[in-house]
Amino acid sequence: MESVMSIRDLSVSYEHKTVLEGVSLDIPSRRITAVIGPSGCGKTTLLHCMNGLIGEEPGAVRKGNVLLAGRSIDAIPPEELRRRVGLVFQTPSPFPFSIYRNMTYALKYYGVRDKKKLDAAVEAKLTMAGLYDEVKDELGKSALKLSGGQQQRLCIARALTVEPEMLLLDEPCSALDVKSSAVIEQMLTELKKDYTIVIVTHNIPQAKRIADYTAFLYDGRLVEFAPAEELFSAPREEETRAFLSGVYG
Ligand SMILES: Nc1ncnc2c1ncn2[C@@H]1O[C@H](COP(=O)(O)OP(=O)(O)OP(=O)(O)O)[C@@H](O)[C@H]1O
Ligand SMILES: [Mg+2]
Repeated sequence: MESVMSIRDLSVSYEHKTVLEGVSLDIPSRRITAVIGPSGCGKTTLLHCMNGLIGEEPGAVRKGNVLLAGRSIDAIPPEELRRRVGLVFQTPSPFPFSIYRNMTYALKYYGVRDKKKLDAAVEAKLTMAGLYDEVKDELGKSALKLSGGQQQRLCIARALTVEPEMLLLDEPCSALDVKSSAVIEQMLTELKKDYTIVIVTHNIPQAKRIADYTAFLYDGRLVEFAPAEELFSAPREEETRAFLSGVYG
């Protein structure tokens, strides 16, 4: 299994509260890895460690290491890290600008000025996110006027404009209806051909549908990490079994 990111003995604490403890994990390249576990077990914290957000947050102490393509993320300038590891939040969070400007914002920031290049990127990434046909005639419209599902796909498309290696998604469908969620799931299974995807989800059926690998976190510890089929059909650990059977709610 080829992996683009290695997490080594990672611990995070706030004040004196340990929220992640000794997590080691290799994220498989060009696959979907789902992170599951009860509320408060550290899923978001783990995701935020992967693009360096924890480390910047005051009050959080991170120990251990996260390696991107073999290099510690501490040695990678934050801007480069953010570009290579995209993050999509739970609540769709488009900028209060037009669709077009959302899509070109990061590229312009990185110095791309050529209109043809910008247009091409807008079309290509909106297409990847399955949104282009729906919005191609109204790229000047405010992104805030899109539906929730469209906004979330826009945020995913926007994250892709800077050609990240990894895409991290924190419960991207929790604010969406079933139909919008299905569109996003379909899109993610397409995107994994080109990107390494990590998705935090509360939704076990969703993880079953789309994940190639699944990590089960409980109380800050990585209890089990395995091919998704294996973890769901024959969990090795008692805690995983209990969680999947609904004991922890
Ligand atoms: N800034 C902070 N200061 C103090 N404690 C925090 C902070 N951020 C998170 N925590 C604590 O860390 C623990 C893990 O939080 P985290 O958000 O990673 O969990 P989670 O698994 O994503 O939960 P959920 O499923 O509810 O999103 C929780 O107990 C939370 O209260
Ligand atoms: Mg969370």
